Amino acid sequence: MRAEQRRSTAGFPVKEKATYEEAARQLFGEALTRDLRNAKFHSIYKSDTSWFERCYHALLAVEHDYIQALVDGIASQSIPGSLVEFGIFQGAWINRLYEMTERAGISDREILGFDSFQGLSKPHPDFDTSFWKEGMYAAPKAQVEANVNAEQRPRIKLVEGFFSDSLVAAPATGLG
Ligand SMILES: C[S@@+](CC[C@H](N)C(=O)[O-])C[C@H]1O[C@@H](n2cnc3c(N)ncnc32)[C@H](O)[C@@H]1O
Repeated sequence: MRAEQRRSTAGFPVKEKATYEEAARQLFGEALTRDLRNAKFHSIYKSDTSWFERCYHALLAVEHDYIQALVDGIASQSIPGSLVEFGIFQGAWINRLYEMTERAGISDREILGFDSFQGLSKPHPDFDTSFWKEGMYAAPKAQVEANVNAEQRPRIKLVEGFFSDSLVAAPATGLG
Protein backbone atom coordinates (compact mmCIF):
# COMPACT_ATOMS: atom_id res chain seq x y z
CA MET A 1 0.00 0.00 0.00
CA ARG A 2 1.27 3.47 -0.82
CA ALA A 3 2.60 5.30 2.22
CA GLU A 4 0.17 8.16 2.49
CA GLN A 5 -3.15 6.78 1.27
CA ARG A 6 -5.39 3.72 1.47
CA ARG A 7 -9.10 3.22 0.83
CA SER A 8 -11.52 3.17 3.71
CA THR A 9 -14.21 0.51 3.77
CA ALA A 10 -16.57 3.21 2.50
CA GLY A 11 -14.34 3.64 -0.52
CA PHE A 12 -12.98 7.07 0.37
CA PRO A 13 -9.25 7.69 0.52
CA VAL A 14 -8.03 7.91 4.11
CA LYS A 15 -4.56 9.05 5.14
CA GLU A 16 -2.55 6.17 6.60
CA LYS A 17 -1.95 7.79 9.96
CA ALA A 18 -5.02 9.98 10.20
CA THR A 19 -6.42 10.45 13.65
CA TYR A 20 -10.05 9.52 14.27
CA GLU A 21 -11.08 13.17 13.97
CA GLU A 22 -9.10 13.71 10.76
CA ALA A 23 -10.52 10.54 9.24
CA ALA A 24 -14.05 11.61 10.17
CA ARG A 25 -13.43 15.03 8.61
CA GLN A 26 -12.23 13.42 5.40
CA LEU A 27 -15.08 10.96 5.19
CA PHE A 28 -17.96 13.06 6.44
CA GLY A 29 -16.72 16.64 6.10
CA GLU A 30 -16.90 17.21 9.86
CA ALA A 31 -15.49 15.75 13.05
CA LEU A 32 -18.04 13.40 14.51
CA THR A 33 -18.89 14.11 18.10
CA ARG A 34 -17.81 11.54 20.64
CA ASP A 35 -19.90 13.07 23.37
CA LEU A 36 -23.31 11.72 22.47
CA ARG A 37 -25.26 13.48 25.20
CA ASN A 38 -26.44 16.17 22.82
CA ALA A 39 -26.79 13.89 19.81
CA LYS A 40 -30.11 12.74 18.49
CA PHE A 41 -30.39 9.01 18.06
CA HIS A 42 -32.10 7.44 15.10
CA SER A 43 -32.50 3.75 14.58
CA ILE A 44 -30.69 2.73 11.42
CA TYR A 45 -31.73 -0.89 11.68
CA LYS A 46 -34.44 -2.44 9.57
CA SER A 47 -37.36 -3.52 11.70
CA ASP A 48 -37.18 -7.13 10.57
CA THR A 49 -33.61 -7.63 11.78
CA SER A 50 -32.23 -8.89 15.07
CA TRP A 51 -30.35 -5.56 15.42
CA PHE A 52 -33.62 -3.67 15.57
CA GLU A 53 -34.93 -6.21 18.08
CA ARG A 54 -31.84 -5.69 20.24
CA CYS A 55 -32.24 -1.88 20.14
CA TYR A 56 -35.86 -2.20 21.15
CA HIS A 57 -35.06 -4.43 24.12
CA ALA A 58 -32.10 -2.29 25.20
CA LEU A 59 -34.28 0.83 25.27
CA LEU A 60 -37.04 -1.02 27.07
CA ALA A 61 -34.53 -2.11 29.72
CA VAL A 62 -33.49 1.52 30.28
CA GLU A 63 -37.13 2.61 30.46
CA HIS A 64 -37.81 -0.18 32.93
CA ASP A 65 -34.90 0.87 35.19
CA TYR A 66 -36.02 4.51 35.05
CA ILE A 67 -39.60 3.73 36.09
CA GLN A 68 -38.32 1.33 38.75
CA ALA A 69 -36.14 4.13 40.17
CA LEU A 70 -39.15 6.47 40.24
CA VAL A 71 -41.31 3.89 42.03
CA ASP A 72 -38.54 3.15 44.52
CA GLY A 73 -38.14 6.89 45.13
CA ILE A 74 -41.88 7.29 45.74
CA ALA A 75 -41.73 4.45 48.27
CA SER A 76 -38.52 5.45 50.06
CA GLN A 77 -39.52 9.12 50.34
CA SER A 78 -43.13 8.28 51.22
CA ILE A 79 -44.44 10.47 48.41
CA PRO A 80 -48.24 10.18 48.57
CA GLY A 81 -50.70 9.76 45.72
CA SER A 82 -51.79 7.53 42.87
CA LEU A 83 -49.66 6.37 39.98
CA VAL A 84 -50.99 7.43 36.60
CA GLU A 85 -50.19 6.50 33.01
CA PHE A 86 -51.57 8.60 30.17
CA GLY A 87 -51.93 6.41 27.10
CA ILE A 88 -51.65 2.77 28.10
CA PHE A 89 -52.10 0.87 24.81
CA GLN A 90 -52.41 -2.81 25.74
CA GLY A 91 -51.59 -2.28 29.41
CA ALA A 92 -48.04 -3.64 29.59
CA TRP A 93 -46.82 -0.73 31.74
CA ILE A 94 -49.87 -0.89 33.98
CA ASN A 95 -48.89 -4.49 34.74
CA ARG A 96 -45.29 -3.52 35.40
CA LEU A 97 -46.40 -0.66 37.68
CA TYR A 98 -48.59 -3.06 39.58
CA GLU A 99 -45.72 -5.47 40.15
CA MET A 100 -43.23 -2.70 40.97
CA THR A 101 -45.54 -1.15 43.58
CA GLU A 102 -46.07 -4.59 45.14
CA ARG A 103 -42.33 -5.15 45.41
CA ALA A 104 -41.67 -1.62 46.67
CA GLY A 105 -44.16 -2.03 49.51
CA ILE A 106 -46.67 0.53 48.22
CA SER A 107 -49.34 -1.94 47.20
CA ASP A 108 -52.04 0.34 48.62
CA ARG A 109 -51.67 2.82 45.74
CA GLU A 110 -54.23 3.26 43.00
CA ILE A 111 -52.89 2.81 39.48
CA LEU A 112 -54.86 4.81 36.95
CA GLY A 113 -54.65 4.31 33.21
CA PHE A 114 -56.16 7.03 31.04
CA ASP A 115 -56.87 6.09 27.45
CA SER A 116 -59.32 6.70 24.64
CA PHE A 117 -59.24 2.97 23.81
CA GLN A 118 -59.68 4.27 20.26
CA GLY A 119 -56.01 4.98 19.61
CA LEU A 120 -54.47 8.33 18.78
CA SER A 121 -56.62 11.39 18.39
CA LYS A 122 -56.38 13.39 15.15
CA PRO A 123 -52.73 14.43 14.65
CA HIS A 124 -52.01 18.16 14.89
CA PRO A 125 -51.26 19.60 11.41
CA ASP A 126 -48.30 21.68 12.66
CA PHE A 127 -46.86 19.79 15.61
CA ASP A 128 -47.20 16.13 14.61
CA THR A 129 -45.25 14.36 11.88
CA SER A 130 -46.92 12.32 9.14
CA PHE A 131 -45.85 9.14 10.96
CA TRP A 132 -48.74 9.52 13.42
CA LYS A 133 -52.17 8.50 12.21
CA GLU A 134 -55.54 8.85 13.83
CA GLY A 135 -56.58 5.55 15.46
CA MET A 136 -53.03 4.18 15.75
CA TYR A 137 -52.44 2.04 18.88
CA ALA A 138 -56.12 1.35 19.41
CA ALA A 139 -56.73 -1.45 21.91
CA PRO A 140 -60.30 -2.23 22.99
CA LYS A 141 -61.02 -1.54 26.66
CA ALA A 142 -62.35 -5.06 27.32
CA GLN A 143 -59.13 -6.54 25.98
CA VAL A 144 -56.96 -4.21 28.08
CA GLU A 145 -59.03 -4.96 31.19
CA ALA A 146 -58.32 -8.64 30.61
CA ASN A 147 -54.62 -7.97 29.94
CA VAL A 148 -54.19 -6.17 33.27
CA ASN A 149 -56.48 -8.55 35.16
CA ALA A 150 -58.53 -5.57 36.31
CA GLU A 151 -61.29 -7.64 37.86
CA GLN A 152 -58.90 -9.31 40.31
CA ARG A 153 -56.88 -6.15 40.93
CA PRO A 154 -59.30 -3.37 41.91
CA ARG A 155 -56.60 -0.80 42.59
CA ILE A 156 -56.09 -0.68 38.81
CA LYS A 157 -58.59 1.78 37.34
CA LEU A 158 -58.95 2.32 33.61
CA VAL A 159 -60.40 5.69 32.68
CA GLU A 160 -61.91 5.84 29.21
CA GLY A 161 -61.95 8.99 27.08
CA PHE A 162 -59.82 11.36 25.07
CA PHE A 163 -57.55 13.44 27.32
CA SER A 164 -59.32 16.64 26.25
CA ASP A 165 -62.41 15.29 28.05
CA SER A 166 -61.04 12.90 30.67
CA LEU A 167 -58.42 15.24 32.15
CA VAL A 168 -60.88 18.02 32.92
CA ALA A 169 -63.26 15.76 34.84
CA ALA A 170 -63.14 13.43 37.84
CA PRO A 171 -61.16 11.41 38.74
CA ALA A 172 -58.35 13.36 37.04
CA THR A 173 -59.33 16.66 38.68
CA GLY A 174 -59.17 15.04 42.11
CA LEU A 175 -55.57 13.87 41.71
CA GLY A 176 -52.93 15.77 43.68
C1 LIG B 1 -48.02 4.68 21.89
S1 LIG B 1 -49.37 4.11 22.82
C2 LIG B 1 -48.84 4.17 24.51
C3 LIG B 1 -47.79 3.24 24.84
C4 LIG B 1 -47.51 3.04 26.29
N1 LIG B 1 -47.50 4.28 27.08
C5 LIG B 1 -46.16 2.35 26.39
O1 LIG B 1 -45.19 2.99 26.78
O2 LIG B 1 -46.11 1.19 26.03
C6 LIG B 1 -50.41 5.53 22.84
C7 LIG B 1 -51.69 5.32 23.64
O3 LIG B 1 -52.24 6.58 23.95
C8 LIG B 1 -53.61 6.59 23.66
N2 LIG B 1 -53.93 7.97 23.26
C9 LIG B 1 -53.27 8.69 22.32
N3 LIG B 1 -53.79 9.93 22.22
C10 LIG B 1 -54.79 9.98 23.15
C11 LIG B 1 -55.70 11.01 23.54
N4 LIG B 1 -55.66 12.23 22.98
N5 LIG B 1 -56.59 10.73 24.53
C12 LIG B 1 -56.60 9.50 25.11
N6 LIG B 1 -55.77 8.49 24.77
C13 LIG B 1 -54.87 8.73 23.80
C14 LIG B 1 -53.80 5.57 22.58
O4 LIG B 1 -55.12 5.02 22.57
C15 LIG B 1 -52.74 4.53 22.91
O5 LIG B 1 -53.25 3.53 23.75
